[in-house]
Amino acid sequence: MTHPRSQSPDALAGDTADQTAASGYPATRLRRTRQSDWARRLVRQTTLSPDDFIWPIFVMGGKNQREQVSSMPGVERLSIDLAVIAAKEARDLGIPVIAVFPNTPPEKRTGDGREALNRDNLVCTAVRAIKDAVPDIGIMTDVALDPFTTHGHDGLLRDGRILNDETIEILVGQSLVQAEAGCDIIGPSDMMDGRVGAIRAALETSGFQDVMIMAYTAKYASAFYGPFREAVGSSGTLSGDKKTYQMDFANVDECVREAELDIAEGADMIMVKPGMPYLDVVSRLKSEFHVPTFAYQVSGEYAMLMAAVQNGWLDGNTVIIEALQSFKRAGADGVLTYFARDLARKLND
Ligand code: PBG
Repeated sequence: MTHPRSQSPDALAGDTADQTAASGYPATRLRRTRQSDWARRLVRQTTLSPDDFIWPIFVMGGKNQREQVSSMPGVERLSIDLAVIAAKEARDLGIPVIAVFPNTPPEKRTGDGREALNRDNLVCTAVRAIKDAVPDIGIMTDVALDPFTTHGHDGLLRDGRILNDETIEILVGQSLVQAEAGCDIIGPSDMMDGRVGAIRAALETSGFQDVMIMAYTAKYASAFYGPFREAVGSSGTLSGDKKTYQMDFANVDECVREAELDIAEGADMIMVKPGMPYLDVVSRLKSEFHVPTFAYQVSGEYAMLMAAVQNGWLDGNTVIIEALQSFKRAGADGVLTYFARDLARKLND
């Protein structure tokens, strides 16, 4: 091999020594910085704290009522008075935001999901109650019609098709009643084209210019949402699947176009959902867009981990942190997770 600088054997030897110093064993021993707890802490690139969490909770009617969600051990639907207590606890633990999802009574579900526009529906009532009692926690709400429709879809359904533009009109109304109730972050999870721009415009002209939008930017048509649909009571009602609006899980390029549009239309933050099977998407969006980027560790991911932990197949003390840390490593600024309260307790200890 000829090298421009390696004219003499000495020079060659020097080069070799330099290379060793730069990249080779034994000068380089990657185990050195792993040898003790303090050394590992010193070089640790990402940390996990309650500041990273958004805690999704499920609300239902009644007073002093709680119901276990059977496919999500440890997760309950709470009546609003108990949801307020949960919000206080979250605030005290340092969790910045809770996300409120309603289990709408079946008699209030219709084909057009008009209960979404009712100023006194479960979500709006819960938001008002929480804002009133716990003003210093952020509240996020979902914008989509699935908890309010008899067919369980996120949009209006006509002749087996989901109508895009007609749905947007209702989503705008839904966003406004939620903002009026005191919601801080609107989370459009419906995946209709153009909804972020329409919602942003309506918020601007209605005096809610400070309300943030966290767009469900890359939301995939996923079977990992199963337990959530049980929690909000839409699993029995959903007809067909959501593949004509949620993304195809075989694709990644589309996430970039979705993000470009959402950011241009006025989203303050973007989200990837589900979480752990989609870390490539989190990483891609964070590196391309440099905007606050979140991942949703969804109900099926929670169920899967809890099932293994409860069977003694995985160590719950470590595996949950490992799973959540992966989001930070991939570039997420925070995570929506059903583990938020329990993990915040642990991290605060
Ligand atoms: C509703 C919505 C869903 C989730 C959040 N908002 C379900 C769906 O799209 O069918 C899923 C959350 C989870 O699984 O934890 N549009």
